[in-house]
Amino acid sequence: MKLKELESWLSQCDQFDKPKVVLEQYATSAHVAARMIYSAQENLTDAAVCDLGSGCGILSIGSILAGAAYVCGFEVDEDAIEIAIGNCDEMFDDSENPVNFVNTEIDIRSDALSPALERFSSCFDVIIMNPPFGTKNNAGADYKFLKQAIHLVRPEGHIYSLHKSSTREFFKKKMALPIEKLGVTGNVLAQIRYDLPKCYKFHKEKSVDIAVDFWHFQKQSKP
Ligand SMILES: C[S@@+](CC[C@H](N)C(=O)[O-])C[C@H]1O[C@@H](n2cnc3c(N)ncnc32)[C@H](O)[C@@H]1O
Repeated sequence: MKLKELESWLSQCDQFDKPKVVLEQYATSAHVAARMIYSAQENLTDAAVCDLGSGCGILSIGSILAGAAYVCGFEVDEDAIEIAIGNCDEMFDDSENPVNFVNTEIDIRSDALSPALERFSSCFDVIIMNPPFGTKNNAGADYKFLKQAIHLVRPEGHIYSLHKSSTREFFKKKMALPIEKLGVTGNVLAQIRYDLPKCYKFHKEKSVDIAVDFWHFQKQSKP
């Protein structure tokens, strides 16, 4: 699918009604989501995909539009799940929809960091996510999401993820460790100016513009 077409479809997705600060709920814009999906497209075709912290489902929906066979979104917040399901209904029930959705399904489950996800270990071809950045009371959440993603993706599988640029050196150091410590290679595909709307009281400006890295990681096979 062409980038413009993808963005146009994704711009129809509803976003959080009342974003929850503890969960770091800021939706990926259609502009950013479309570019993430477009970059991942070759690996998304026919893939089993996981969206960790799926929120209102924009990355799950985008993955299906790009040809994924199956997407499983993990999201802890019921309200977000309700919006995501509404977005899927809007997007996929229209009989005039030009996209073929045969054999596609979005399955939204709960806590992305739960040990119960053990059973999904190495299950997915691709993980696509915009995890909490690990700010405020949530320090380290971004790294926990990455480690869970590595656990869930199959060897040689792909992880596409957004992380604050200020953590770039931290991730690079972790990747330089022996394989059993983290077990991925990765590189930054693009640096994005991420416009966080003023959704929280502690934001003084109308929106906060932060630098965010769009990472592509690949899980290493054990020798
Ligand atoms: C930055 S938002 C991104 C939402 C969505 N993926 C998007 O791209 O618009 C992070 C999401 O992670 C969810 N979240 C935070 N902690 C979580 C956890 N432990 N398990 C599952 N979801 C979580 C939040 O509720 C929120 O929807």
